[in-house]
Amino acid sequence: MKRIIVAIDGYSSSGKSTMARQLAAIIGYTYVDSGAMYRAVTLYALRHGMATPGGALDTARLVESLPEIAVTFSRSAEGAQHTMLNGVDVESEIRGMEVSEMVSPVAAVPEVRRHLVKLQQGYGVEKGIVMDGRDIGTTVFPEAELKVFVEASPEVRARRRVDELTAKGVKVDYDEVYANVCERDRIDTTRAESPLRKADDALVLDNDRLTREQQMEWLLERFRERVGE
Ligand code: DC
Repeated sequence: MKRIIVAIDGYSSSGKSTMARQLAAIIGYTYVDSGAMYRAVTLYALRHGMATPGGALDTARLVESLPEIAVTFSRSAEGAQHTMLNGVDVESEIRGMEVSEMVSPVAAVPEVRRHLVKLQQGYGVEKGIVMDGRDIGTTVFPEAELKVFVEASPEVRARRRVDELTAKGVKVDYDEVYANVCERDRIDTTRAESPLRKADDALVLDNDRLTREQQMEWLLERFRERVGE
C-alpha cells in the first residue's frame, strides 16, 4: 500500500496531538509531535538561564547553543512517546506552565525553526508519518499528501488544557490558561517566520462540533481516499 505523509496543523490545545497520535497508531505510521521539539528547546533555554519565565529571552546565546541541543524521541514499554533532551526524558517537564509561557517566543526565533524543521524533514524521508504542529503543511512538508487544519475556539481549548493539567495533578487557574492560549495564538499567527496559517490545500476540521469518534472516522476516510484504498 502507498505510504504517505499526513500533516496536521492547528492552534494550541486544539486536540490535534491526540488525534494525530491515535491516527498513527491505527494506520501503523510513526507519530511525531513537532511542538514537543520546540518545548524541549525552551526547557533547555530555561535551564541554562537564557530565558526567565515571563521574562526576556537571550536569543543570541540560544542560537549559539543550538548545535548542543539534541531532541529525540523514545518509546516506553506501553508504546507512549517520550521526548528526550540530550538523551534525558523530559516528557513531563516540557508540559508545565513555565515551558508553555516561554515556548512561543522561542519558536519565533528563525534559527530555532530552521534547526528543528531540518530534523522534522528527516523523519519524513521514508514517508509513513503523521506529524502535528503549526507549519507542517506549509513549511515542513508542503508536499504532504494529506493536510488537515484543526480549528477550535479558545474557550474550548483552554478548558481542555485545564482538564489535561488537572488530570496530571498540576494545579492551574482557568483564566491564566485562557490568557496563555490567547497570547500563544497571537504570537504563533503573527511571527515573521512560518506563522501559523492554513495551507491552501489543507482540509478544515472543526473540533468544537464533532466528537472524538466522529473526528477519527472523518480522518480515516480522508486517509483511505489519499492512499487509494
Ligand atoms: O503544540 P504545542 O502547544 O505543544 O506547541 C508548543 C509551541 O510550539 C506553540 O506555542 C507553537 C510552537 N510550534 C511551532 O511554532 N511550530 C510547530 N510546528 C509546532 C509548535
